[in-house]
Parts: sequence; C-alpha cells; structure tokens
Amino acid sequence: MTGVTARVPAKLNLQLAVGPPRADGYHDLVTVFHAVSLFDQVTVEPAGRDGITVTGEGADRVPADQDNLALRAIEALRAAVPDRGTAAVHVTIAKRIPVAAGLAGGSADAAAALVACNELWAAGLTQPQLCGIGATVGSDVAFALLGGTAVGRGRGEQLTPALAPATQYHWVLAFADGQLSTPAVYAALDRLRAQGGSGGMGPPRSGGFRGVAPPGQHQPDLDAALMSALRTGDAARVGQQLSNDLQQAAVSLFPALRKTLTAGLELGALGALVAGSGPTCVFLAANAERALELAVSLSGTGVCRSVARVSGPVPGAAVVSAA
Ligand code: C5P
Repeated sequence: MTGVTARVPAKLNLQLAVGPPRADGYHDLVTVFHAVSLFDQVTVEPAGRDGITVTGEGADRVPADQDNLALRAIEALRAAVPDRGTAAVHVTIAKRIPVAAGLAGGSADAAAALVACNELWAAGLTQPQLCGIGATVGSDVAFALLGGTAVGRGRGEQLTPALAPATQYHWVLAFADGQLSTPAVYAALDRLRAQGGSGGMGPPRSGGFRGVAPPGQHQPDLDAALMSALRTGDAARVGQQLSNDLQQAAVSLFPALRKTLTAGLELGALGALVAGSGPTCVFLAANAERALELAVSLSGTGVCRSVARVSGPVPGAAVVSAA
C-alpha cells in the first residue's frame, strides 16, 4: 500500500456541562457531541521516518513535530500493536477545521491518523480499541472516531451514541478573528465559579445565556429537555436547549463574541452558543435555505472573520481512499 487517506469531521457540543476540576486537572463533563460536515483530511504514506506536513486553514499554527496530536496518536497506536509491521509514515494534514476554534480540529486529526494507520498497517483494531488509544491522546478523539450525535462523560471520552432520528440540522459557524486556549477557558470558568458566579451576561437567547453556578452546585447533568428535542427532531426545540457552561468564560476572555451571538439571534437563528471552548460561534437554522440567508447576513455584519454552513450529524473518521 502506498498511501491511505481518511476524512474526519469537526464537532459541536449541543450541551456542555462542566463539573469542578478533578485532581488530575481535567473537569468531569456531561456533553452532547454532534459531528458536522466540516472535514479535515489526513493522508499517511510509508516513509523513511515519521514526519508531517500541514496545509490549509491555519496550517502555520499547527505544530509540525512530535507535539502534533496526529503523530502522538500514531505513536500510541504503534505501541499498542508491537507485533505488526508499523513502518514509519509521513502524515499530510489538509485542514479545513480552524485551529484552536472550539471545534476539536486537533483531536479530529488524531482520530483520522488512527483510522488511516490502522488500514495502512493492516493492524485490524476495532473502533472501540481505537477509541481507547485515542482517549490517551485527547479528550475529543474518541468522539471524532464515532461521529453522529453522542453523549460524552468523564473527560468526554466515555461515549454513548444518542438514538436520534435521521433529522439533519443546519448550522452556521461564525469563525472569530483570534483563538482561545482550551486550558485558559477552563481556568477562567474555575475562577468565575470561585468568585461565586456573576449570573446572567449579555442578551437572552432562546435557551437563555446561563450564568455560572455558585461553587458546589455545578455537578454536570444531562439535559433531558435537549435529549427529548433531539428525539423528536424538532430544530426549534433543539435551538432553545443549546447550552455551554464554558460560554461565559469564553466571552470573558473574548468579549467580542457577545456581539456575534446577539447578531445571529437577531438575524433569526433558532439558537446560538459558543462552540466548545470557543471562539467559534454556532447558530442553528430552521432549514438549509434559512442557513444560507443567515450566513449571508452574518458575513455582512462584520461580527466575525468568516462563516461556514454545515449540517449534522455526520459519521466519524473514515478511510476515503487507499492505494
Ligand atoms: O484532552 P485535551 O488535550 O483535549 O484537553 C485540553 C485541555 O483542556 C486540558 O489540558 C484541560 O486543561 C482542559 N480540559 C479539562 N477537562 C476536560 C477536557 C479538557 O479541563 N474534560
């Protein structure tokens, strides 16, 4: 085999409920992951030694050395199948998922690298086995392998697929002019909570911008109303139930996001929230036509760097060509 290419989606969190910090520095989560049609492509080819090339959206900000999550995932896979011919590979990542945007692009690339090398090396690992290896590399890697819509617990790596109907949701993503560091956003949330939470911020949205709960009152819990809305496939209800405990922390570090969220809601979005740890803002539209209108209007308002229309759920990382 001379090369394998895998494609992998970005993720949204339709709910992101965050618990207090754990002893290991991570936070226990309850989250509803949702994979959307914004894809990176990762190609692995046999080479003299491991190496990496990154092209596309934000490529200059992706580490092109052993710190790259794709190379770390490949190392972890190699260690898991020591008796296979796990020859060195050159990895080429074609990025469309923006970097440090709250869309788990780094974890996505790790997931695609696992799927591609599993094929290249004929390692024969199952998806649950790859998820176990992926979880050691990043909290969102397991979901990038699974795709669809799924409930995540623990650090986000313990997954249960959500039994949702075949409804496709239409989203508009507003990419920010800047980045946020995930650890910095979690730390900001811890600080806000230690200060007792400042309550509501910004304008109300369909589901309401939820304030930061006081200390001791933020054990994460799955939002039954969101799950019920997903089961019925009613986009308006889903829009009202979107929630993200990291949102207020992200906005505190990146205040311009408030304007972006408000603009999308005023332009008719069914719901709005910050993607993961941000700074991408996410808007749900009633259908593909409304999403197009919203995307055009939003890009005219100057409240974001650029916009993209995506739909979900879509499947997780998968091989698209092998030669
Ligand atoms: O696992 P991953 O490398 O994606 O996490 C990046 C950072 O985000 C962690 O180092 C941690 O600071 C924060 N994090 C967290 N709790 C989680 C997931 C991530 O605190 N459940």
